[in-house]
Amino acid sequence: MDRRKFLYTSTLSTLVLAGCGSSDTTSTTTTSTSSTASKLFIPPEVKGKLINGIYQYDMTIKSGTSEFIAGLKTPTYGINNAYLGSTIRLIDGQSIKINFKNTLGESTTMHEHGLHLPPAMDGGPFQEIKAGTTWTAEYTVNQKASTCWYHSHLMDKTGEQVLKGLAGMIIIDDLDSQTLNLPKTYGVDDIPLVIQDRRFNNDGSFDYTLSNQERMRGYDGDRLLINGTINPYINLSAKEIRFRLLNGSNAKVYNFAFRESISFSQIATDASFLEKPLTLQNIKLSPAERAEIVVDFSDSLDKEFVLYDTLSNKDIITLKITQESTEITTLPSSLTTLTKFTQSQAVKTRVFTLAKEAGMAGKFTINGVSMDVNVVNETIKLDDIEVWEVVNTMNMTHNFHIHDSHFMLIERNGSASNVRESEKGYKDTVILEAQESVKFIVQMKDYTDDVNTYMYHCHILEHEDNGMMGQFKVVK
Ligand code: C2O
Ligand code: CU
Ligand code: CU
Repeated sequence: MDRRKFLYTSTLSTLVLAGCGSSDTTSTTTTSTSSTASKLFIPPEVKGKLINGIYQYDMTIKSGTSEFIAGLKTPTYGINNAYLGSTIRLIDGQSIKINFKNTLGESTTMHEHGLHLPPAMDGGPFQEIKAGTTWTAEYTVNQKASTCWYHSHLMDKTGEQVLKGLAGMIIIDDLDSQTLNLPKTYGVDDIPLVIQDRRFNNDGSFDYTLSNQERMRGYDGDRLLINGTINPYINLSAKEIRFRLLNGSNAKVYNFAFRESISFSQIATDASFLEKPLTLQNIKLSPAERAEIVVDFSDSLDKEFVLYDTLSNKDIITLKITQESTEITTLPSSLTTLTKFTQSQAVKTRVFTLAKEAGMAGKFTINGVSMDVNVVNETIKLDDIEVWEVVNTMNMTHNFHIHDSHFMLIERNGSASNVRESEKGYKDTVILEAQESVKFIVQMKDYTDDVNTYMYHCHILEHEDNGMMGQFKVVK
């Protein structure tokens, strides 16, 4: 082989290897120890191939190994990656088919959390994807711009499978998000951050043995993984940067803030923009909740900032403002318009009481019963406007999530004034700390099914897997 050809070949193979590294089995490999920072992994985007008017997404659920801790191999699951899923990009109005091919040696499901879709396409516990089969979610995207996600929802095993890595982000765009002057270059000034906690065994494998305390309060890992990166940093430009925060942890609640005490603007909740940006110094998210925030770094060239969790006092990510920028994004004063119903428009109130049977082995319950695959707990009429009141009777934190629909909070602990400004967009998950209660207004729209159900549940996965879930049906 002449030298020139050799150089060409070696360059090519380096490129090929680099390509693999960013999207395949070694995707989350880091060379970090706990003291050295690693570059934040950005999950690749999947935009869909247009075939006969339908956008097709090919997602392969697979097992692999990841090197979170230098020198240690962790067996992991992921979707198109060794750990976590690629980011699925959707646009309001698109007809889509998401093909989930299960190459694991076991069953799973793929629930699209925050998506408004027919119950048969929901990917809940009843849409099992058996080992070696492909399941397709097919529907038309019909909702506002938002940061959503997808994850395993296998009956009794959601906690274990999500822990291994079966979760990814879904980003939905609409006319608002496309036309508003917001940072929107993925991975550059629009940064996905999936925040998770994990505990490792000495051999590098994830430790999912639950202590008695964890059976009660949920999984408690000692290390934080951000998009599967321990102790990450990212280089950014001196301009406004948008972060999509997704609490992808099994049970942990985070209160995000900057060590430097800078303020930021929240622009979105779980399922929509806020009507206008909200200035904050910190934001609390329970498992499965999302928030989009924009931070102005235009005067911060050569500075570093650390996003951290005030509850555990652990660092989440170091932001290095290394590049100059002349780009100016002034946040729009109005982001979207939300539909608000009043309590007097509601035709029905339902109460959901969160509790637990006595004793260590006692199941978690909603309205005195735990999840039963053979019981449809609630039947709801299409288009009815309803008030749902959720009451946490326990001295521990829970949250409450509903599939398919989005709600607006109207009361917390008996009063409208207790609803936080940061919760005033469309939501699908709401936190209830010890003894708290919330009321929200919801309307089930577009889809009915006499057989297939949607779920409502606590999104602390160890609670969900231990009974704190129910089913509802939407009928004509
Ligand atoms: Cu993330 Cu049943 O949901
Ligand atoms: Cu969900
Ligand atoms: Cu709970």
